[in-house]
Amino acid sequence: ISILVIQGPNLNLLGTREPEVYGKTTMQDIHTKLEAIAKSESVGLTTFQSNHEGELIDRVQKAKQDGIDFIIINPGAFTHTSVALRDALAGVAIPFTEVHLSNIHQREEFRKHSYLSDIATGVICGLGPIGYELALQAAIARLNP
Ligand code: DQA
Repeated sequence: ISILVIQGPNLNLLGTREPEVYGKTTMQDIHTKLEAIAKSESVGLTTFQSNHEGELIDRVQKAKQDGIDFIIINPGAFTHTSVALRDALAGVAIPFTEVHLSNIHQREEFRKHSYLSDIATGVICGLGPIGYELALQAAIARLNP
């Protein structure tokens, strides 16, 4: 089993970026935790972050060639803007969970709509970094019934 974690724009700044909204945990802290879970469950885990829409799309397309079984994605602000990222995920037809650290429904109006949620296997938001861990555990349970 191989699982890909994709982090969108500005998530590389976690830890210092608006800590009152996103907390103090860094992206590396999150990935270290996910790697430990993956190792203990004997599944492959790859992580990828980009601030560029096209690079995120290229990575989704490459996931198909790589035989990735499941994607966990925090698309950052592209959640609310990117038809192209939606099309890429729909195009590869790899099941995915959308994760947000913050509760996007509690914030500005423009964050309430996601271009991905209706084609996602699941959506987790508002639980902070643990949301990624829950998404990983759910993906493993789904792939490994
Ligand atoms: C986010 C929520 C988005 O609205 C925002 O643009 C982000 C992070 C989250 O994890 O809460 O960059 O995806």
